[in-house]
Amino acid sequence: MTIETEPGLWLLTTPSSAYAVRLGPDGAPRCAHWGPRLTLGQARALPAGPEELPVEGGGRFGVAGLQVRYGDAVRGVEWRHVGHDIEGDDVDGGHLTIRMADRHYPLEIDLHYLVRPDSDAVGRWTTLRNTGDGPITVLRCDSAAWAVPRREDYRLTHVTGEWGAEFQVRRTALAVAETVLTSRRGHSGYHANPWVMLDAGDATEDRGEVWSAALAWSGSWRITVERDHDGRAGWSGGFGHEGVTWRLGPGESLETPAFTGIYSAEGFGGVSHRWHDHVRRHVLPAPGRVRPVVYNSWEATEFDISQDQQMELAELAAGIGVELFVMDDGWFGGRAGAFAGRTGETAGLGDWWPNPDRFPDGLTPLIDHVKRLGMAFGLWVEPESVNPDSELYRTHPEWVLRQPNRRATEIRDQLLLDFSRDDVAEWAYDRLDELVAHNDIAFLKWDMNRPITEAGDEVWVPYIRNVYAVMDRLRAAHPHLTIEGCASGGGRADLGMLARTEQIWTSDNTDAAQRIAIQHGYGQVYPACTMGAWVTDSPNALTGRPTPLAFRFHVAMSGALGIGGDLLRWSPADLEQAKRLVEQYKLIRPVVHEGRMDRLADWAVQYTLDPHVVVFSWRPTTLVRVTAPVRLKGLDPDGVYRDEDTGKTHHGTLLMSHGLPRPWPFDATSELKRLTRVG
Ligand code: DGJ
Repeated sequence: MTIETEPGLWLLTTPSSAYAVRLGPDGAPRCAHWGPRLTLGQARALPAGPEELPVEGGGRFGVAGLQVRYGDAVRGVEWRHVGHDIEGDDVDGGHLTIRMADRHYPLEIDLHYLVRPDSDAVGRWTTLRNTGDGPITVLRCDSAAWAVPRREDYRLTHVTGEWGAEFQVRRTALAVAETVLTSRRGHSGYHANPWVMLDAGDATEDRGEVWSAALAWSGSWRITVERDHDGRAGWSGGFGHEGVTWRLGPGESLETPAFTGIYSAEGFGGVSHRWHDHVRRHVLPAPGRVRPVVYNSWEATEFDISQDQQMELAELAAGIGVELFVMDDGWFGGRAGAFAGRTGETAGLGDWWPNPDRFPDGLTPLIDHVKRLGMAFGLWVEPESVNPDSELYRTHPEWVLRQPNRRATEIRDQLLLDFSRDDVAEWAYDRLDELVAHNDIAFLKWDMNRPITEAGDEVWVPYIRNVYAVMDRLRAAHPHLTIEGCASGGGRADLGMLARTEQIWTSDNTDAAQRIAIQHGYGQVYPACTMGAWVTDSPNALTGRPTPLAFRFHVAMSGALGIGGDLLRWSPADLEQAKRLVEQYKLIRPVVHEGRMDRLADWAVQYTLDPHVVVFSWRPTTLVRVTAPVRLKGLDPDGVYRDEDTGKTHHGTLLMSHGLPRPWPFDATSELKRLTRVG
């Protein structure tokens, strides 16, 4: 049973965890349990703990996930239980709605819970409804609060970063304080990412309890983690940052995004396995869709593109086994002889037609060429942005996001369109739909290169909802379209974006040595099949670091492989080696994308899809010790595994206890091992 109930108690069960809610003596819905599986009888013995959605009022002095003001300026909620609904079944999973209301004021609050029989995720969100005849002001409405059981100590895990350095894992003691993880930028951000993990300070990669949650929202967000002197810890989180209010008119409702939690008793590795499985099965819009090997021309050409050069690159890309050719920024805008369009950062954004100087006959000749070479075609777009020097801006200056009497902040020479306006979203949908429908486009890279700045309270949430709506409509109208999410690299990677995209452009930093840490952080929650990873040139354009081609490939092959180098400058030997590596990647792609990912000691990552095992070992600098055998995980101890390159066989138990020998020459920087269980 995924959902069981008796008066005042609800028990949600997943394959390896349980979550229990109990009505407290004050009528408030409270967390009774989040941890290992329980029976209903065991759950019955538990007292009610912290509130499921902490409110203001009474003797409450902690973080309030729900803050409202009624017409008479009274605030807070006094809980009244109204009832509950359970929908679904044991096969597809269940949706529990605990229906609550204020004891006096016309505010209904639904707490939602979603569990599925093949996932350890508990999805939670909140709906508010104003049933009165005057407005209610909502200062904050979190999706959910999550409380972890009392432990001696707590440790917080999250990621921080910046452009070119996203997803850096931080694991620190949790302060006895309120720790705020947030983005106020209108996108989920590269300086933080909307997920959190807590453990008791004793979890390792393979053992120990870890509690985690990730928010399905691509705009501003806030997760406040609390630890009090008394030894309690947990967090409340949802969309929006502080200072933004929502007016809930009579009869109106407000639904939050989902904040999904996963508990694992198998350490940080165990929690990542569960996230990867959950995202692949239940978040991605087209589960199981194969990620093509992409060529993207950005690093090779930046804005300096032409039809002939793109055709030449396409020929070389096809020659090494690329399956989808993507033309990045710089292909659009302009009027022949009158306006240059998007030939640099300063002009043309918003003018979504092929640049007539660069593509005099439109995109068809290039697309036909790409298709003749056996590849599909993709295009870069940034639908939310506009350069002041563009025809769109000259025609519709009123579409830009700005506030009266305030300067409109330009970042990267661009402004944002007010996507909270339905007419703007409609325009964007029409442009994109036309592009895709008339040009045989299989893939869109949807970029967003600046944060939201001057925006009124009413913009932040509808803006993101309209981005989602445009993506959802495009996908529905073009079911085979693949979308890559991007915001100057990994600035908008979250469960909301992943519900509408196949992959995320992880980072503009393509230096293989630095990329290992970026990918390590990305993979804590998000699966490898969604992690866009290119092989680019050496020395690296951003860092100047020279690296061997095989090393660059081995790092990128552990995600969704793309090629992003200037193939016109690659030697015949490089192209030949690249072709062999792309062939090898296609063999291991199902294992990397569908298998279980284990982070191993000593700079190694393993993917397992029985009977196949793939192990990447990297040595980004010679200071890294990689001579020790690398111990594999999760194999059949009685199994025998054959090395696909040497034919040598290994015992599963020895691979796990003694490890896979790595007899590397001193100058090797990476290795790929493919094993198959043969007995
Ligand atoms: C930022 C992206 O991260 C890059 O890959 C590239 O698409 C540029 N934008 C283009 O302007």
